[in-house]
Amino acid sequence: MVGSTVVKELANRGHEVKAIAHKPEKVWKHEKVEAVKADVLDADFSTKLEGVDAVVSAFSTGNWTDGDRFTQGANAIVYQFPFYWMSAPHLMKQWTDEVFMAFAGDENHVKGKHFMVCCTTGSPEEAYQHGGRNKYTIEEYLRPYEGQANHAEMIWVKPLAVHSQFPNGGKDELEKGCKEYQDRLKALVASSK
Ligand SMILES: Cc1cc2nc3c(=O)[nH]c(=O)nc-3n(C[C@H](O)[C@H](O)[C@H](O)COP(=O)(O)O)c2cc1C
Repeated sequence: MVGSTVVKELANRGHEVKAIAHKPEKVWKHEKVEAVKADVLDADFSTKLEGVDAVVSAFSTGNWTDGDRFTQGANAIVYQFPFYWMSAPHLMKQWTDEVFMAFAGDENHVKGKHFMVCCTTGSPEEAYQHGGRNKYTIEEYLRPYEGQANHAEMIWVKPLAVHSQFPNGGKDELEKGCKEYQDRLKALVASSK
């Protein structure tokens, strides 16, 4: 279900990874990676996620609307993206308009779930302050996502921004951000139990 880069990164960080794919034989082979053949539209798909702490989805956008099956058992949606021109890269918006839109449609499969944004920025933290170079705080820039959560009757979680992420820079911020991200994800998982 996730792209090979994510699978490798998670396994190399010591996580047990269940990679759900149409063609498991193509999944990167590693002692921490279990390749499972499945399709999200399989009737028993949700059983494949039992015992899993976090799901990373690499679905492409498209005419895919089965929000009920995707969100079954999920307690939260986390958008993770690099900040591009004070917003998300355009594919994130496309995913929202096409897939999230279907989740939050008439039956609203995301109601009552948590919604969190985790983003990396090139500018340092001090730029995202009133009076700073970017004039507004990151939470202010992320208001459209708060609005999205609100409109979909979801629970908005304070966003996490990891600043100063330019090539070969911001290593301390990245280390601190990864630790906080882990804690935040654990808290989201714990809140569902
Ligand atoms: C097209 C583009 C637009 C960007 N716009 C912003 C921006 O508006 N604000 C900012 O702080 N950083 C901006 N950046 C820097 C990225 O946020 C930064 O490189 C990224 O978060 C690093 O994460 P990555 O290593 O996963 O790409 C931009 C980078 C690119 C390529």
